[in-house]
Amino acid sequence: MKITVVGAGAVGATTADNIARAGLADELVILDIKEGFAEGKAQDINQTAALLGFDTRVTGTTGDYTKTAGSEVVVITSGLPRKPGMTREELIGTNAGIVRGVAENILKNSPDAIIVVVSNPMDTMTYLALQATGLPKNRVIGMGGALDSARFKYQLSQHLGASPSDLNAVVIGGHGDTTMIPLIRFATWNSVPVTKFLSEEQQKQIVADTMVGGATLTKLLGTSAWYAPGAAGCSVVKSIVRDEKKLITSCVLLDGEYGQKDIALGVPVIIGRNGVEKILDFGLNAEEQAAFDKSAEAVRSMNDVLKTL
Ligand code: LAC
Repeated sequence: MKITVVGAGAVGATTADNIARAGLADELVILDIKEGFAEGKAQDINQTAALLGFDTRVTGTTGDYTKTAGSEVVVITSGLPRKPGMTREELIGTNAGIVRGVAENILKNSPDAIIVVVSNPMDTMTYLALQATGLPKNRVIGMGGALDSARFKYQLSQHLGASPSDLNAVVIGGHGDTTMIPLIRFATWNSVPVTKFLSEEQQKQIVADTMVGGATLTKLLGTSAWYAPGAAGCSVVKSIVRDEKKLITSCVLLDGEYGQKDIALGVPVIIGRNGVEKILDFGLNAEEQAAFDKSAEAVRSMNDVLKTL
């Protein structure tokens, strides 16, 4: 199994580190455009192998896509991260050109790869990757829901005094501060609805804090977060590589599901060896559907910006 991570920045390197530790690949390539950077990250991760006990061979390359040839899964993290006060959407001008080029180069060298998109604005970058590669919709997956759902569980755990891994909770819609939809009505604590234990006010607070989860960290760190994004990226890769069939909310191309078409947006999906294997219909109520439609409208207007670039 050969996996490539494009972009050796904080999110890319952390994703690669998690993939190596999990032993998901025998060969892991990190590619970056900054001279020597991916090579350095690869060597650093390799030097943890004796300590952590994994056998993945990690290599780095400065922009040589031939080194990524034959990858079965490719994670795209390239592009600028956001600075404090910035929205993910403000990155579109710079990141669209980068992601388009990366997606085309990846396809040339790894025609059978499944692509996981992490770059922001993630929903629009996923749509762009689909367009740029012409790949079938099962092979392009935007990683946003895995991260946002983990942040949702973190917020719930704080209010409930619960172990995050005892919680089941998903975020659908866009991966934006105002477009994501934490579905609290469906969230459970070992199968009991969390709403049973939380006041209306607490529920509102949890939803609001989840939505600005990334922005809160950007403010604290001066750049966007990487540990949870890296772990979330790896969780998607793991479900593909090991054919786990995990239910992970992911940004995928919709063709009528959830009432939307010609847009990539976060919905609950089964992720397995074929990538997106099934989109599940959670049966949204009118209020949730209205929020989803509003989210779609915002992402669609962002997608329209692609035409002007
Ligand atoms: C975040 C960025 C990676 O949410 O989108 O932290």
